[in-house]
Amino acid sequence: MRNLACNVAGIPFKNPIVMASGTFGFGQEYAKLYDINKLGGISCKGLTLHPRKGNPGTRVWETAGGMLNSVGLENPGIDAFLEEEMKFWETIEPVKIANLGGSNIEEYVLGALKITKDAEERRRQNQRAVDMIELNISCPNVKEGGMAFGVKTAVAREVIREVRQVTSLPLAVKLSPNAENIVDMAVMCEDEGAECVSLVNTFSGMKIDIYQRRSVFHNMYAGLSGPSIKPVALRMVHQVAQQVTIPVMGMGGIASASDVIEFIMAGAEVVQVGTYNFMNLRAGEELLAGIRSFMELENIQSLDEIRGIIQ
Ligand SMILES: Cc1cc2nc3c(=O)[nH]c(=O)nc-3n(C[C@H](O)[C@H](O)[C@H](O)COP(=O)(O)O)c2cc1C
Repeated sequence: MRNLACNVAGIPFKNPIVMASGTFGFGQEYAKLYDINKLGGISCKGLTLHPRKGNPGTRVWETAGGMLNSVGLENPGIDAFLEEEMKFWETIEPVKIANLGGSNIEEYVLGALKITKDAEERRRQNQRAVDMIELNISCPNVKEGGMAFGVKTAVAREVIREVRQVTSLPLAVKLSPNAENIVDMAVMCEDEGAECVSLVNTFSGMKIDIYQRRSVFHNMYAGLSGPSIKPVALRMVHQVAQQVTIPVMGMGGIASASDVIEFIMAGAEVVQVGTYNFMNLRAGEELLAGIRSFMELENIQSLDEIRGIIQ
């Protein structure tokens, strides 16, 4: 047996495959297709304090080697998540990551508080609960004219500092590749007490309908993900992993077991798989089988033997 076990902030993952926020819902639909208990973890669809309907108009567009999305954080809100979706999450084994967004600092703080209190209560009752918060700082900051929190390090620092104070749960900060300096951003997260950084979120992109002479998206720009972003995402994960001591969850365009291995060699503790879930409905299961056969072929006993070997 090969050892695929990983550890982020003291939380054991049975393997490095974590499903990325917004591409796996809460896992219930995929559970009909394969045994999702095989997965290392699941990051849920981005949650906000209040329910959100998401963006009007076109929401997704296929691109060469990827997709653009402008879903706009459609979600049932934290209360509904805790009341409804947690019933399913209580029954499954993968590490449970609550992805949290907000339009201002208060929303992030109140959201983190609710998730934390619920997790503490469930743990007291020996129930499964959220294991970790993943802070999505790519949300537009309403007070700053809509610029994402994760672009400027000083703005992101405020959010992380405030959330850090109200949660006992391990905190992962999900970095935007649109940050002015993603390495500075990651170092700041570690300084502020985050236990982990996850990267990358989607790249800001655009698609124009040349006949209608307008962007296909209501909000003009949309987030690019999928295989086309992988080389850039991998470079960013490598740069960040060199500069922080906290674990890195690496993602961006993973669509094969060899992609997973590249991210681990670049220094990621675990990886997240996003768009590939739309391309291959059994992505998780197939990636795991591929990692195992690579380890056998290369006679690797544990992922620790190859993690971060690219210096
Ligand atoms: C349709 C869609 C919805 C997404 N929703 C969220 C979200 O709610 N919160 C978040 O942090 N990231 C969200 N993401 C970003 C992904 O989690 C991931 O960071 C990104 O897509 C890059 O990985 P990939 O190339 O493997 O998809 C979303 C991505 C897609 C494609």
